[in-house]
Amino acid sequence: MITLGIETSCDETAVAVVEDTFVVRANLIASQVHLHERFGGVVPEVAARAHVEALNPLLEETLGNAEIGFGEIDAVAVTTGPGLAGALLVGMAAAKALSLATGADLVGVNHLEGHYWANFLEHGPPEPPYVALIVSGGHTMLVHVPEMFRHVVLGQTLDDAAGEAFDKVARLIGLGFPGGPALDAMARQGDPHAIRFPRAMEDSGDFDFSMSGLKTAVLRHVKASRAAGQDLHLPDLAASFQEAIVDVQVTKTIAAAKDMGSPTILLGGGVVANTRLRERLAAAAEREGLRVLFPSMPLCTDNAAMIACLGSARWTRGERTSLDIAADPQLRLSV
Ligand code: KG4
Ligand code: ZN
Repeated sequence: MITLGIETSCDETAVAVVEDTFVVRANLIASQVHLHERFGGVVPEVAARAHVEALNPLLEETLGNAEIGFGEIDAVAVTTGPGLAGALLVGMAAAKALSLATGADLVGVNHLEGHYWANFLEHGPPEPPYVALIVSGGHTMLVHVPEMFRHVVLGQTLDDAAGEAFDKVARLIGLGFPGGPALDAMARQGDPHAIRFPRAMEDSGDFDFSMSGLKTAVLRHVKASRAAGQDLHLPDLAASFQEAIVDVQVTKTIAAAKDMGSPTILLGGGVVANTRLRERLAAAAEREGLRVLFPSMPLCTDNAAMIACLGSARWTRGERTSLDIAADPQLRLSV
């Protein structure tokens, strides 16, 4: 069974083909990062226009790489939300047109669910229940998955998403956009215990997060050091900031898995590419006798293989999406 996946929720145009849900035949991404760099963030109108330009050639290239003809596609899986409205619309219009023209079934999927499904492409789905930590440029949440396709949101960020905090602090110290990967690389040269930044809500007893206090603390530290004429040691600053974020995420994720009685933790989203988060969560899970799965690096950030995989699994259980479905920028996980 062949599934084509289309993902255009933010600033990556992505198309993939999977066979029998878990075998990736092709997985291509046309990144727009260079277009948004000079604005220091994703500009929605620029993103939507760039998707329009990139999508058709990328579709042809992906099908060519997979050696699949349009007539062989059984299902077209597409991200319907959450994400930028104009960006989502481009992928959905293409998916609907393909479905109409080829007779393949349309399956709309949730981007955040796709992020943790990326794990299953490489490891196959273990038995639920799971606790999933989803950390990306737009979201930070802990989700309990008592059974496949059912979600209970345990907590989420009250302000900035983790990726957003990485990007903002990276920008503050001149690392460009998106700053997460550059900050991660710089932090590897620094001492994570050099500066004690606040661990917001670490002991709040719930599963919510807050990043804005940490961001302000970093800004205050930078200003105070400059005012005092002290040289900033950027690797120490990066490592200390990163450690504060990672500490809270590790504590809360392990607590959530234990509270829910979930032996398995799934990580998903761009911030899961963070080497310190991977290292610390793996060590903490091992200490607690929990299993933790991470997607490989290219499958952490936005891609269409995860969308095709999830869409294919939903198709297999009989789900079909009507052609009149609208994009939903605030789409919630299925309950
Ligand atoms: O999942 P994703 O590709 O897009 C969204 O759905 O938002 O996540 C992108 C986010 C960006 O904020 C980026 O800076 C962050 O993931 N990111 C990282 C790393 N790689 C990507 N953050 C920290 N460390 C990294 N290595
Ligand atoms: Zn994403």
